[in-house]
Amino acid sequence: MTPKFLPDDVPNLTGKVAIVTGPKRGLGLETVHLLARRGCTVYLAGRGDLVQTIADLKKARPDVANAELYPLELDLSSITTAAAAADRFPGERLDIVIANAGISMNNSVAPSPEGWEHHFQTNHLGHFAFIEGLLPLLVESPEARIVVTSSEAYKFATKGIDFDSLRKDVDPSLLGLMGCMKRYGQSKLANTLYVRELQRRLLEKGVKNVYVNAANPGVIASTGLGGDGSQFGLPKFVPVALRKVGGALIGFNLQGGAMTQVWAATARNIVDEDIRGQYIMPAMGWSGGYHHSKVADPLDHAKDDEAAKKLWEVSVKAVTEAEAKAGHGGLN
Ligand SMILES: NC(=O)c1ccc[n+]([C@@H]2O[C@H](COP(=O)([O-])OP(=O)(O)OC[C@H]3O[C@@H](n4cnc5c(N)ncnc54)[C@H](OP(=O)(O)O)[C@@H]3O)[C@@H](O)[C@H]2O)c1
Repeated sequence: MTPKFLPDDVPNLTGKVAIVTGPKRGLGLETVHLLARRGCTVYLAGRGDLVQTIADLKKARPDVANAELYPLELDLSSITTAAAAADRFPGERLDIVIANAGISMNNSVAPSPEGWEHHFQTNHLGHFAFIEGLLPLLVESPEARIVVTSSEAYKFATKGIDFDSLRKDVDPSLLGLMGCMKRYGQSKLANTLYVRELQRRLLEKGVKNVYVNAANPGVIASTGLGGDGSQFGLPKFVPVALRKVGGALIGFNLQGGAMTQVWAATARNIVDEDIRGQYIMPAMGWSGGYHHSKVADPLDHAKDDEAAKKLWEVSVKAVTEAEAKAGHGGLN
């Protein structure tokens, strides 16, 4: 039987440096805690008052009161701000990036100011630009991990990524709850395809010390994902009630939800079993709750290497154009 992987099974991370995106709440904040309590220096990459987030975390979780936690301003809703955040990273060493931040249920019709569908922008393109800027440091690490938080929602995009739909106003058929789910699913499919292609390209260049994987955290009803329903004209008690019922019936608590990305970022299995470019998911114990994480075999459209290459080309072009328009340099 596969052994449990509990917070105390996370290896000692003293001396390692990590970045976690989306650290203000939900899975990101829990991930910061799980890494920091094992001695990792963690940069909290996100928006708003992260100094306060750090102070609140240290107060609420005394086991990280003396941890090395630092803010890094990052806004993934634009390519240029995401790329600039990587340039501002002050660390001289970087071992772990957990690209956890995400949005879902964005019902706006207009695309981002740089012209991209919002889920694709925040969940994929922003992280693509951010991680590209961090790669030179990651490559220098003795053993680096990149984990991109994906989701079973990739299954909503069985027809793959509709690239033509990403650069214009959202089609009315892709608005509302189901439409948002499809566009969110498309961005989560992008997360799984991206890790395959990034890993392939690193190996092609002879870079063997960087392990890139996607992590599906499972269902965690207690996070803020999806907002409060007001974007669909729903009274606020509806999503709150749905979350409570959903949380009680299925899924994991916050810590259980964060464990899979922490496993992918720290477990020895990744190196010992040479786990690269994979889709990793949690497994439940007999009594419910998180037990361990394992490599899963996703549906074929999440293993489509041609689609992954196309995604890469579209992403490079997007970053190059946005950076040129902003008068910045391009990709390394
Ligand atoms: N909860 C689940 O059941 C579930 C299931 C599968 C996958 N996931 C994935 O897990 C990840 C974390 O989600 P969560 O459930 O913890 O949701 P959450 O509580 O809503 O947290 C999302 C985090 O992402 C940040 N974020 C959003 N837009 C951003 C932007 N433009 N720039 C920088 N940061 C931004 C948010 O910060 P702000 O306060 O600045 O918005 C917040 O810290 C997501 O990638 C999600 O797709 C979650």
